[in-house]
Amino acid sequence: MMQSQVRAGTTTAEEWLDQCEPGLKKTTLAMFRACKEIAYKIRTASCDKMACFNEFGDEQLAIDLLANTVIFENLKDAGSVATASSEETPTEDPIGGSGYSVAFDPLDGSSIIDTNFAVGTIWGVWAGSKLTGISGRDIKSGGIAIYGPRTTITIALDGIEGAHEFLLIDDFSSRHGEWVKTNEFTTIGEGKLVAPGNLRATQDNEGYAALYDYWLKNMYQLRYTGGMVPDVNQIMIKGKGIFVNVNSKNTKSKIRVLYEAAPMGYIVEKSGGKTSEGEKSVLDIPITETEQTTQLAFGSANEVARFEELVGRKYL
Ligand code: F6P
Repeated sequence: MMQSQVRAGTTTAEEWLDQCEPGLKKTTLAMFRACKEIAYKIRTASCDKMACFNEFGDEQLAIDLLANTVIFENLKDAGSVATASSEETPTEDPIGGSGYSVAFDPLDGSSIIDTNFAVGTIWGVWAGSKLTGISGRDIKSGGIAIYGPRTTITIALDGIEGAHEFLLIDDFSSRHGEWVKTNEFTTIGEGKLVAPGNLRATQDNEGYAALYDYWLKNMYQLRYTGGMVPDVNQIMIKGKGIFVNVNSKNTKSKIRVLYEAAPMGYIVEKSGGKTSEGEKSVLDIPITETEQTTQLAFGSANEVARFEELVGRKYL
């Protein structure tokens, strides 16, 4: 028999999720299924200067719209989801199930997909049927999928410490297509690694300019792709550093609270990191509208404290 990429007996996502409430397990597994399909579609897409396309039924669809459709279909099938909302179609849509609501960004970083950089999916799960009048503090589970050389999903669950990474087995063994547990993130320590989003804002936000200058003078390592999912994921993997996306007088961060900041922030905090919108955790931002945006910093305690001190909420 062909050797597998992972050790025999490695825990699968299905087994690991036994520790959570059945409806939450169903919802989370629906996202695992959707992300597996999206990973395949991305790998086999063809891209021109305008967009990346793949087959869906008889149609050719842009890959981000296809990812959106795949997630909606899987969530509908789960039966445990009352409401779903996507960054692509930012309304609260009843989808026929009951128990939970899911907000997701189906393909974050879709503008870099033609470059063959890593891109990702982000999602958050809330109890009940509302995705407004809530905050990141109420999240029951959050996840990110990274479609890079390897396909991984990192999830965090209410009541369970840490964030937990699963690898999609993509070999010719009998375990092909399984998700197996490969990593656990519990601490984000100090270290000079920086991912500075919306860098143009240094020109009309003097606090961001001062922070950027601090990183340069102190010889930080630059690691930035322009895809929030891989750029934040590296901080959990390396266990150090900071990711920011900052507002200024004339340029605002495009990061949505519901679809991106809250679920990612939930995973970062579960990994032992800090998050901030300038003064407080991104989990404490009241979500009143699906399309609300925020600036943010994710990373180690001292780095996020320096962001709060130098950048703060002046242009929020
Ligand atoms: O969702 C917005 C996004 O695509 C993020 O994934 C990424 O971090 C950001 O935009 C990049 O913005 P900029 O190119 O301005 O740094």
